[in-house]
Amino acid sequence: MKVAVLGSGDVAKTLAGGFLKHGHQVMIGSRTPEKLAEWKTLNPKGSTGTFAASASFGEVVVLAVKGGAAMDALRLAGVANLAGKTVIDACNPIADAPPVNGVLRFFTNFDESLMEKLQHEFAGANFVKAFNSVGAGLMVNPQFAGGKPTMFICGNNEAAKKQVGGILDQFGWETADMGGAEAARAIEPLCMLWCIPGFRSNDWTHAFKLLKK
Ligand SMILES: NC(=O)c1ccc[n+]([C@@H]2O[C@H](COP(=O)([O-])OP(=O)(O)OC[C@H]3O[C@@H](n4cnc5c(N)ncnc54)[C@H](OP(=O)(O)O)[C@@H]3O)[C@@H](O)[C@H]2O)c1
Repeated sequence: MKVAVLGSGDVAKTLAGGFLKHGHQVMIGSRTPEKLAEWKTLNPKGSTGTFAASASFGEVVVLAVKGGAAMDALRLAGVANLAGKTVIDACNPIADAPPVNGVLRFFTNFDESLMEKLQHEFAGANFVKAFNSVGAGLMVNPQFAGGKPTMFICGNNEAAKKQVGGILDQFGWETADMGGAEAARAIEPLCMLWCIPGFRSNDWTHAFKLLKK
């Protein structure tokens, strides 16, 4: 698969590396692709470009930018370059204000998530929330004594979610599909919960698992 990864931070670089590891072709994108020169040296099979070049290249697009800049990054990627494609949304709507006793603040509310806003603005793309509820260092084939962790996903397009389920299989996760885009109102705040032990006790080594009878 040809995969576009929009972003130059830890999440983008980690996921891009994961896609390469699993045999996909990757173009990672930034407003200033030069800042990805080191990543390119470390990942010679990958390529770098602008958000638009990357989105145009990808059959699947991964959005891994600052939450408050997600709309702008997608506009730069270009609406035509996203049309009909699965967009894996790893972003969290974290506000600029600092956490309160380890609890992050969001710029969204419980009646509208960031992903719903993105899906509304880019109606031709098929957004799937994924990878937002775990730290970058654990996104690709994490090993836990308790078995495979659970990735909570949601989105309006069943085929896109199936495609993301296949990617999550490769990346060593079990998938819990929580339904339509509105479920991002619950999945995005999992990031708050995941970060609390990190901010309070510098513990960043956990992941969520859904247990069923
Ligand atoms: N860090 C984690 O462990 C983790 C885990 C799960 C989810 N997340 C979420 O994943 C996303 C990426 O996190 P991150 O820590 O890797 O990186 P980040 O520092 O949150 O974001 C960096 C990216 O945001 C882009 N950006 C910033 N301002 C922009 C603007 N005005 N217009 C367009 N693009 C802009 C940058 O683009 P340029 O390349 O052009 O500078 C860069 O690619 C975030 O939404 C975060 O909440 C993070």
